[in-house]
Amino acid sequence: MNNHALIDTATALVADNKGLLAMDESTPTCNKRFAALGIPQDEDFRRTYRELLVTTPELSDSISGAILYDETIRQHTQDGTPMIAVLIAAGIIPGIKVDAGTHSLAGHPGEFITEGLDGLRERLRDYARLGARFAKWRAVVAVSDDLPSRGCIEANAHALARYAALSQEAGLVPIVEPEVLMDGDHSLARCREVTEAVQHAMFAQLHSQRVLLEGLILKPNMVVPGKDSPEYTSGSVTAEMIAEATIDCMLRTVPAAVPGVAFLSGGQTPEQATERLNAMHVHCGTRLPWAATFSFSRALQQPVLDIWRGDVANTQAAQRALQQRAECNHAARRGAYLPSMEPA
Ligand code: G3H
Repeated sequence: MNNHALIDTATALVADNKGLLAMDESTPTCNKRFAALGIPQDEDFRRTYRELLVTTPELSDSISGAILYDETIRQHTQDGTPMIAVLIAAGIIPGIKVDAGTHSLAGHPGEFITEGLDGLRERLRDYARLGARFAKWRAVVAVSDDLPSRGCIEANAHALARYAALSQEAGLVPIVEPEVLMDGDHSLARCREVTEAVQHAMFAQLHSQRVLLEGLILKPNMVVPGKDSPEYTSGSVTAEMIAEATIDCMLRTVPAAVPGVAFLSGGQTPEQATERLNAMHVHCGTRLPWAATFSFSRALQQPVLDIWRGDVANTQAAQRALQQRAECNHAARRGAYLPSMEPA
Protein backbone atom coordinates (compact mmCIF):
# COMPACT_ATOMS: atom_id res chain seq x y z
CA MET A 1 0.00 0.00 0.00
CA ASN A 2 1.45 3.35 -1.05
CA ASN A 3 0.06 5.97 1.31
CA HIS A 4 1.34 8.88 -0.75
CA ALA A 5 -0.39 7.66 -3.90
CA LEU A 6 -3.67 7.15 -2.02
CA ILE A 7 -3.48 10.63 -0.50
CA ASP A 8 -2.62 12.17 -3.87
CA THR A 9 -5.62 10.53 -5.54
CA ALA A 10 -8.03 11.41 -2.73
CA THR A 11 -6.81 14.99 -2.73
CA ALA A 12 -7.09 15.25 -6.53
CA LEU A 13 -10.69 14.00 -6.41
CA VAL A 14 -11.76 16.99 -4.33
CA ALA A 15 -9.40 19.64 -5.76
CA ASP A 16 -10.25 22.78 -7.72
CA ASN A 17 -13.87 22.96 -6.59
CA LYS A 18 -14.71 19.94 -8.74
CA GLY A 19 -16.88 16.94 -7.90
CA LEU A 20 -17.67 13.43 -9.08
CA LEU A 21 -20.02 12.06 -11.70
CA ALA A 22 -21.56 8.86 -10.37
CA MET A 23 -22.41 6.80 -13.47
CA ASP A 24 -22.20 3.45 -11.74
CA GLU A 25 -25.83 2.37 -11.86
CA SER A 26 -26.11 -1.40 -11.93
CA THR A 27 -27.68 -2.91 -15.05
CA PRO A 28 -31.12 -3.35 -13.38
CA THR A 29 -31.09 0.26 -12.12
CA CYS A 30 -29.96 1.66 -15.46
CA ASN A 31 -32.62 -0.41 -17.24
CA LYS A 32 -35.28 0.88 -14.85
CA ARG A 33 -34.35 4.49 -15.64
CA PHE A 34 -34.32 3.72 -19.38
CA ALA A 35 -37.70 1.96 -19.16
CA ALA A 36 -39.28 5.01 -17.51
CA LEU A 37 -38.40 7.01 -20.65
CA GLY A 38 -39.13 4.30 -23.20
CA ILE A 39 -35.45 3.74 -24.01
CA PRO A 40 -34.60 0.16 -25.05
CA GLN A 41 -32.91 -1.71 -22.21
CA ASP A 42 -30.00 -3.49 -23.83
CA GLU A 43 -26.23 -3.40 -23.65
CA ASP A 44 -25.87 -1.34 -26.80
CA PHE A 45 -28.11 1.47 -25.54
CA ARG A 46 -26.34 1.44 -22.16
CA ARG A 47 -22.99 1.63 -23.96
CA THR A 48 -24.16 4.47 -26.22
CA TYR A 49 -25.49 6.40 -23.24
CA ARG A 50 -22.31 5.98 -21.22
CA GLU A 51 -20.27 7.04 -24.27
CA LEU A 52 -22.40 10.20 -24.41
CA LEU A 53 -21.49 10.90 -20.78
CA VAL A 54 -17.75 10.29 -20.97
CA THR A 55 -17.30 12.18 -24.25
CA THR A 56 -19.11 15.33 -23.05
CA PRO A 57 -16.87 18.27 -24.03
CA GLU A 58 -15.20 20.23 -21.21
CA LEU A 59 -16.58 17.86 -18.59
CA SER A 60 -13.26 17.94 -16.74
CA ASP A 61 -13.70 21.68 -16.07
CA SER A 62 -16.14 20.70 -13.31
CA ILE A 63 -15.75 16.94 -12.84
CA SER A 64 -12.68 15.39 -11.19
CA GLY A 65 -13.68 11.75 -11.24
CA ALA A 66 -16.27 9.36 -12.65
CA ILE A 67 -17.55 6.22 -10.94
CA LEU A 68 -18.10 3.40 -13.44
CA TYR A 69 -19.99 0.12 -13.29
CA ASP A 70 -18.32 -3.19 -14.14
CA GLU A 71 -20.00 -3.30 -17.56
CA THR A 72 -18.74 0.18 -18.48
CA ILE A 73 -15.14 -0.23 -17.37
CA ARG A 74 -14.86 -3.09 -19.88
CA GLN A 75 -16.67 -1.30 -22.73
CA HIS A 76 -15.32 0.69 -25.66
CA THR A 77 -16.63 3.73 -27.47
CA GLN A 78 -17.84 3.30 -31.04
CA ASP A 79 -14.36 4.07 -32.39
CA GLY A 80 -12.87 1.26 -30.28
CA THR A 81 -11.35 3.34 -27.46
CA PRO A 82 -11.83 1.91 -23.95
CA MET A 83 -14.27 4.12 -22.01
CA ILE A 84 -11.74 4.34 -19.21
CA ALA A 85 -9.08 5.64 -21.62
CA VAL A 86 -11.46 8.40 -22.77
CA LEU A 87 -11.83 9.56 -19.17
CA ILE A 88 -8.11 9.45 -18.47
CA ALA A 89 -7.35 11.40 -21.66
CA ALA A 90 -9.88 14.03 -20.57
CA GLY A 91 -8.18 14.40 -17.17
CA ILE A 92 -10.97 12.66 -15.26
CA ILE A 93 -9.97 10.06 -12.66
CA PRO A 94 -11.77 6.75 -13.21
CA GLY A 95 -13.25 4.76 -10.35
CA ILE A 96 -15.43 1.71 -9.99
CA LYS A 97 -18.39 0.53 -7.94
CA VAL A 98 -17.27 -2.69 -6.25
CA ASP A 99 -20.14 -3.70 -3.99
CA ALA A 100 -22.52 -6.42 -5.12
CA GLY A 101 -25.68 -4.60 -4.12
CA THR A 102 -27.96 -4.55 -1.13
CA HIS A 103 -29.76 -7.62 0.22
CA SER A 104 -32.18 -8.24 3.09
CA LEU A 105 -30.34 -8.47 6.39
CA ALA A 106 -31.23 -11.77 8.03
CA GLY A 107 -33.23 -11.36 11.21
CA HIS A 108 -33.84 -7.66 10.53
CA PRO A 109 -37.08 -7.12 8.59
CA GLY A 110 -36.96 -3.99 6.44
CA GLU A 111 -33.18 -3.62 6.70
CA PHE A 112 -30.34 -4.28 4.26
CA ILE A 113 -26.75 -5.40 4.16
CA THR A 114 -24.42 -4.73 1.25
CA GLU A 115 -22.77 -7.87 -0.12
CA GLY A 116 -19.55 -8.23 -2.09
CA LEU A 117 -16.64 -8.94 0.25
CA ASP A 118 -16.11 -12.49 -1.07
CA GLY A 119 -13.45 -12.38 -3.77
CA LEU A 120 -13.12 -8.61 -3.42
CA ARG A 121 -9.31 -8.67 -3.11
CA GLU A 122 -9.02 -10.30 -6.55
CA ARG A 123 -11.64 -8.04 -8.15
CA LEU A 124 -9.89 -4.93 -6.81
CA ARG A 125 -6.61 -6.15 -8.26
CA ASP A 126 -8.33 -6.61 -11.61
CA TYR A 127 -9.90 -3.13 -11.53
CA ALA A 128 -6.55 -1.54 -10.61
CA ARG A 129 -5.01 -3.33 -13.60
CA LEU A 130 -7.77 -1.92 -15.83
CA GLY A 131 -6.85 1.60 -14.65
CA ALA A 132 -9.30 2.38 -11.83
CA ARG A 133 -7.87 4.61 -9.09
CA PHE A 134 -10.70 4.56 -6.62
CA ALA A 135 -13.52 2.23 -5.59
CA LYS A 136 -17.01 2.81 -4.21
CA TRP A 137 -19.20 0.77 -1.85
CA ARG A 138 -22.75 1.83 -0.92
CA ALA A 139 -24.60 0.76 2.21
CA VAL A 140 -28.21 1.78 2.76
CA VAL A 141 -29.93 2.49 6.05
CA ALA A 142 -33.72 2.66 6.26
CA VAL A 143 -35.33 5.02 8.78
CA SER A 144 -38.55 4.67 10.77
CA ASP A 145 -39.50 5.16 14.41
CA ASP A 146 -37.82 1.79 15.18
CA LEU A 147 -35.17 1.60 12.47
CA PRO A 148 -32.28 1.43 12.02
CA SER A 149 -31.38 -1.35 14.42
CA ARG A 150 -27.98 -1.49 16.08
CA GLY A 151 -27.35 -4.76 14.23
CA CYS A 152 -27.89 -3.13 10.83
CA ILE A 153 -25.69 -0.13 11.63
CA GLU A 154 -22.87 -2.33 12.90
CA ALA A 155 -23.01 -4.93 10.11
CA ASN A 156 -22.85 -2.25 7.41
CA ALA A 157 -20.15 -0.26 9.21
CA HIS A 158 -18.02 -3.39 9.45
CA ALA A 159 -18.50 -4.27 5.76
CA LEU A 160 -17.66 -0.70 4.70
CA ALA A 161 -14.47 -0.78 6.73
CA ARG A 162 -13.42 -4.21 5.43
CA TYR A 163 -13.95 -3.02 1.85
CA ALA A 164 -12.08 0.24 2.54
CA ALA A 165 -9.05 -1.61 3.93
CA LEU A 166 -9.00 -3.99 0.94
CA SER A 167 -9.28 -1.06 -1.47
CA GLN A 168 -6.33 0.72 0.07
CA GLU A 169 -4.32 -2.52 0.01
CA ALA A 170 -4.96 -2.62 -3.77
CA GLY A 171 -3.94 1.04 -4.14
CA LEU A 172 -7.49 2.29 -4.72
CA VAL A 173 -9.00 5.17 -2.75
CA PRO A 174 -12.18 3.96 -1.04
CA ILE A 175 -15.28 6.09 -1.39
CA VAL A 176 -17.34 4.98 1.60
CA GLU A 177 -21.05 5.58 1.09
CA PRO A 178 -23.31 4.98 4.08
CA GLU A 179 -26.62 6.29 2.71
CA VAL A 180 -29.43 7.08 5.11
CA LEU A 181 -32.47 6.80 2.86
CA MET A 182 -34.98 9.58 2.22
CA ASP A 183 -37.88 7.08 2.08
CA GLY A 184 -40.35 7.54 4.93
CA ASP A 185 -41.99 10.25 6.96
CA HIS A 186 -39.16 10.99 9.39
CA SER A 187 -38.18 14.51 10.32
CA LEU A 188 -35.00 16.43 9.57
CA ALA A 189 -33.98 15.98 13.21
CA ARG A 190 -34.46 12.19 12.97
CA CYS A 191 -32.36 12.03 9.79
CA ARG A 192 -29.64 13.93 11.56
CA GLU A 193 -29.75 11.62 14.58
CA VAL A 194 -29.54 8.49 12.41
CA THR A 195 -26.84 9.91 10.11
CA GLU A 196 -24.74 10.78 13.12
CA ALA A 197 -25.11 7.29 14.63
CA VAL A 198 -24.30 5.59 11.32
CA GLN A 199 -21.19 7.66 10.72
CA HIS A 200 -19.90 7.30 14.29
CA ALA A 201 -20.18 3.52 13.95
CA MET A 202 -18.50 3.56 10.54
CA PHE A 203 -15.55 5.74 11.56
CA ALA A 204 -15.01 3.50 14.62
CA GLN A 205 -14.83 0.49 12.28
CA LEU A 206 -12.56 2.32 9.83
CA HIS A 207 -10.22 2.94 12.76
CA SER A 208 -10.38 -0.72 13.87
CA GLN A 209 -9.59 -1.89 10.34
CA ARG A 210 -6.59 0.51 10.14
CA VAL A 211 -7.93 2.47 7.21
CA LEU A 212 -5.88 5.54 6.31
CA LEU A 213 -8.32 8.42 6.75
CA GLU A 214 -6.20 10.74 4.61
CA GLY A 215 -6.65 8.32 1.72
CA LEU A 216 -10.44 7.99 1.62
CA ILE A 217 -13.48 10.04 0.62
CA LEU A 218 -16.79 9.98 2.50
CA LYS A 219 -19.93 9.93 0.35
CA PRO A 220 -22.84 10.63 2.71
CA ASN A 221 -26.45 11.66 2.34
CA MET A 222 -27.32 15.26 3.07
CA VAL A 223 -29.43 15.58 6.22
CA VAL A 224 -32.95 15.94 4.82
CA PRO A 225 -36.47 15.10 6.03
CA GLY A 226 -38.15 11.93 4.70
CA LYS A 227 -40.01 12.28 1.40
CA ASP A 228 -43.40 11.61 3.04
CA SER A 229 -42.85 13.87 6.03
CA PRO A 230 -44.91 17.03 6.60
CA GLU A 231 -41.63 18.99 6.61
CA TYR A 232 -40.85 17.74 3.12
CA THR A 233 -44.29 18.00 1.57
CA SER A 234 -44.96 21.47 2.99
CA GLY A 235 -41.58 22.70 1.76
CA SER A 236 -40.99 24.33 5.14
CA VAL A 237 -37.37 23.17 5.38
CA THR A 238 -35.10 25.63 3.61
CA ALA A 239 -31.79 24.99 1.88
CA GLU A 240 -30.10 26.89 4.70
CA MET A 241 -31.68 24.61 7.35
CA ILE A 242 -30.55 21.51 5.46
CA ALA A 243 -27.06 22.94 5.00
CA GLU A 244 -26.73 23.77 8.71
CA ALA A 245 -28.07 20.39 9.85
CA THR A 246 -25.81 18.54 7.40
CA ILE A 247 -22.64 20.39 8.26
CA ASP A 248 -23.32 20.31 12.02
CA CYS A 249 -23.74 16.54 11.74
CA MET A 250 -20.59 16.05 9.63
CA LEU A 251 -18.50 18.22 11.97
CA ARG A 252 -19.41 15.88 14.83
CA THR A 253 -18.56 12.71 12.93
CA VAL A 254 -15.99 13.21 10.16
CA PRO A 255 -12.38 13.58 11.31
CA ALA A 256 -10.47 16.53 9.86
CA ALA A 257 -7.92 14.08 8.41
CA VAL A 258 -10.47 13.04 5.77
CA PRO A 259 -9.76 15.09 2.63
CA GLY A 260 -13.29 15.28 1.30
CA VAL A 261 -16.99 14.78 1.85
CA ALA A 262 -18.74 14.22 -1.50
CA PHE A 263 -22.51 14.18 -1.06
CA LEU A 264 -24.87 11.84 -2.92
CA SER A 265 -28.12 13.33 -4.20
CA GLY A 266 -30.41 10.55 -2.95
CA GLY A 267 -33.62 11.51 -4.75
CA GLN A 268 -33.41 15.28 -4.40
CA THR A 269 -34.14 17.18 -7.59
CA PRO A 270 -31.04 18.41 -9.44
CA GLU A 271 -31.79 22.01 -8.46
CA GLN A 272 -32.40 21.15 -4.79
CA ALA A 273 -29.14 19.21 -4.52
CA THR A 274 -27.18 22.10 -6.05
CA GLU A 275 -28.91 24.77 -3.98
CA ARG A 276 -28.25 22.86 -0.75
CA LEU A 277 -24.58 22.24 -1.56
CA ASN A 278 -24.30 25.94 -2.33
CA ALA A 279 -25.93 26.83 1.00
CA MET A 280 -23.33 24.74 2.84
CA HIS A 281 -20.61 26.96 1.41
CA VAL A 282 -22.50 30.22 1.82
CA HIS A 283 -23.57 29.62 5.43
CA CYS A 284 -20.96 27.20 6.80
CA GLY A 285 -17.97 27.66 4.46
CA THR A 286 -15.63 29.02 7.14
CA ARG A 287 -16.25 26.01 9.41
CA LEU A 288 -15.28 23.21 7.01
CA PRO A 289 -12.09 21.25 7.80
CA TRP A 290 -12.51 19.10 4.65
CA ALA A 291 -13.66 19.78 1.10
CA ALA A 292 -17.46 19.54 0.76
CA THR A 293 -18.42 18.56 -2.77
CA PHE A 294 -20.77 16.44 -4.86
CA SER A 295 -20.82 12.87 -6.16
CA PHE A 296 -24.25 12.88 -7.77
CA SER A 297 -25.86 10.33 -10.03
CA ARG A 298 -29.53 11.26 -10.50
CA ALA A 299 -28.97 14.97 -9.82
CA LEU A 300 -26.43 15.11 -12.67
CA GLN A 301 -27.90 12.56 -15.04
CA GLN A 302 -31.69 12.93 -14.90
CA PRO A 303 -31.81 16.05 -17.12
CA VAL A 304 -29.44 14.30 -19.55
CA LEU A 305 -31.64 11.23 -19.83
CA ASP A 306 -34.79 13.35 -20.16
CA ILE A 307 -33.29 15.05 -23.23
CA TRP A 308 -31.47 12.08 -24.78
CA ARG A 309 -34.31 9.50 -24.64
CA GLY A 310 -32.26 7.06 -26.66
CA ASP A 311 -32.18 9.25 -29.79
CA VAL A 312 -28.78 10.01 -31.30
CA ALA A 313 -30.16 13.30 -32.65
CA ASN A 314 -30.39 14.51 -29.05
CA THR A 315 -26.81 13.68 -28.09
CA GLN A 316 -25.37 17.19 -28.20
CA ALA A 317 -28.28 18.75 -26.33
CA ALA A 318 -28.01 16.02 -23.69
CA GLN A 319 -24.27 16.62 -23.32
CA ARG A 320 -24.95 20.34 -22.94
CA ALA A 321 -27.37 19.52 -20.11
CA LEU A 322 -24.64 17.52 -18.35
CA GLN A 323 -22.18 20.39 -18.77
CA GLN A 324 -24.71 22.82 -17.31
CA ARG A 325 -25.48 20.69 -14.27
CA ALA A 326 -21.79 20.06 -13.66
CA GLU A 327 -21.07 23.80 -13.97
CA CYS A 328 -23.88 24.67 -11.53
CA ASN A 329 -22.45 22.24 -8.97
CA HIS A 330 -18.92 23.50 -9.57
CA ALA A 331 -20.23 26.98 -8.74
CA ALA A 332 -22.09 25.63 -5.68
CA ARG A 333 -18.82 24.34 -4.29
CA ARG A 334 -17.66 27.94 -4.12
CA GLY A 335 -20.99 29.25 -2.82
CA ALA A 336 -21.34 31.02 -6.17
CA TYR A 337 -24.40 29.21 -7.58
CA LEU A 338 -27.37 31.35 -8.63
CA PRO A 339 -30.73 30.00 -9.86
CA SER A 340 -30.25 32.24 -12.91
CA MET A 341 -27.49 29.82 -14.01
CA GLU A 342 -30.16 27.21 -14.68
CA PRO A 343 -31.18 26.71 -18.31
CA ALA A 344 -34.34 28.61 -19.20
O1 G3H B 1 -24.90 4.81 -5.27
C1 G3H B 1 -25.49 5.82 -5.57
C2 G3H B 1 -24.83 6.89 -6.32
O2 G3H B 1 -23.46 6.81 -6.16
C3 G3H B 1 -25.38 8.23 -5.91
O3 G3H B 1 -26.63 8.31 -6.51
O4 G3H B 1 -26.82 10.81 -6.40
O5 G3H B 1 -28.64 9.36 -7.33
O6 G3H B 1 -28.13 9.33 -4.87
P1 G3H B 1 -27.61 9.53 -6.26
